[in-house]
Amino acid sequence: AHERSFIMVKPDGVQRGLVGEIIKRFEQRGFKLVAMKMVTPQRALLEQHYEEHKGKKFFDPLLSYIGSGPVVAMVWEGLNVVSVGRKMLGATDPAKSEPGTIRGDYAIVTGRNIAHGSDSDKSAKREIDLWFRADELANWTNFS
Ligand code: CMP
Repeated sequence: AHERSFIMVKPDGVQRGLVGEIIKRFEQRGFKLVAMKMVTPQRALLEQHYEEHKGKKFFDPLLSYIGSGPVVAMVWEGLNVVSVGRKMLGATDPAKSEPGTIRGDYAIVTGRNIAHGSDSDKSAKREIDLWFRADELANWTNFS
């Protein structure tokens, strides 16, 4: 379906200069960028964003890490962008990501896996709502 996904370049992706590479791959694939901002996320936001992982052993390290430095939060739109975006990112564990995927090309450990992508249409809606106000989503089309 025509949908939106929340894609975030994590602090390791920003620090390694991979923001442009990630944007380029989504643009090249034909997806449409509708929102983007660089932020250092507050703990409260991350607790909500990662609520499904609350109680897991990696929860605290994950929150301190993502909260440590700026991330680039984006919303991409297009046909099946949630599932296609996940494929483009590769498996969460970079050791299992196929070469050619973002993680498969640039990452080796789960705790530093460069970028996040919504795992379902429902998560996408929830995450976009958490990270962006309605007026931060651009409504644009080509008139060429
Ligand atoms: P992400 O897709 O952002 O969703 C949850 C994140 O938790 C995941 O990417 C990893 O960065 C991080 N994480 C750290 N350790 C683990 C783990 N053992 N299993 C799953 N996710 C982990």
